Amino acid sequence: MDASLEATSFGIPEYILSSSGQRMPLLGFGTAAYPPVAPEVTKRAILQAIELGYRHFDTASLYGTEQPLGEAIIEAISLGLIKSRDELFIASKLWCSDAHGELVLPALRRSLQNLKLEYLDLYIIHWPLSLKPGIYEFSIKKEDLLPMDFGSVWAALEECQRLGLTKSIGVSNFSSKKLADILAFAKIPPAVNQVELNPLWNQKKLREFSNANGILLTAYSPLGATGTVWGSSRVLENQVLKEIATVKGKTIAQICLRWAYEQGVSMIVKSFNGERMKQNLDIFSWSLSEDELQRINDIPQSRASNGEIFTSEYGPFKTIEELWDGEI
Ligand code: A2P
Repeated sequence: MDASLEATSFGIPEYILSSSGQRMPLLGFGTAAYPPVAPEVTKRAILQAIELGYRHFDTASLYGTEQPLGEAIIEAISLGLIKSRDELFIASKLWCSDAHGELVLPALRRSLQNLKLEYLDLYIIHWPLSLKPGIYEFSIKKEDLLPMDFGSVWAALEECQRLGLTKSIGVSNFSSKKLADILAFAKIPPAVNQVELNPLWNQKKLREFSNANGILLTAYSPLGATGTVWGSSRVLENQVLKEIATVKGKTIAQICLRWAYEQGVSMIVKSFNGERMKQNLDIFSWSLSEDELQRINDIPQSRASNGEIFTSEYGPFKTIEELWDGEI
């Protein structure tokens, strides 16, 4: 990763994405809150984050946060916090019901309209499967699950990049095997794969595969997504992390984020609390020792977000083993 590390903005290192040359701040700000909060609350949190120095924002058509993000960007420019939108890295995601070749471009145009932007920096396939068109709720019905035609969906994403509507394209929740399937025919390889990654699910195998193929892993739930339906407090309550944090005079959250940075991945962290937003930024001027890294690597591993809702006897993946191709 070092070869691609570049100058920093507000102390956040940036990574040059291999397939597009786009600069991505390695620490991004997550906008998905659970339970959902009012758009005005999201907008205010984003404005505060921009003021504090966050420059990379992650949203998705599913989250309902594209509009408040777009409004926050307009306000940040009018307040003089940034000069133009070009100073930000904005990523959004294609929801499964739009993961059909002919629906990709209209879905991206809708996201851009919500965000009031001319282009995205990164457009990501949210999950490696499709849903019947027109379904935008997260309460997924098993009978609506469909296999994704990777060839036509990926070709449509490539077209979005060629049209300049997104600077780079990527995927989320893909196993090594599914990445290899895409790489076999992609004209533009995925720049990133956004996956659950934290000290309790370190994605060692996927990291090695991604590094070997020039794909940047982005960690979601780097703190274990405490407070959500898919996450828990198990990461922030882990005893080993607690001991390391105490000795170093850091918080457990900072240990998790610093650890992720030292694994050569980028990360999306969500906090709508000003103090925690600041704390999460303060991870680039200190490091973990070999011994501390080893202790973290020895933590027993298990997934929290196992994607069970995307499995069905009648759908493309009957079991979570099939969904993750055994990487569970
Ligand atoms: P809050 O928004 O109230 O700060 P993840 O990034 O793994 O998805 O985790 C997000 C969750 O972790 C949110 O509930 C967020 O709550 C909480 N969180 C974010 N930063 C910290 C921190 N530094 N310490 C403790 N909890 C945090």
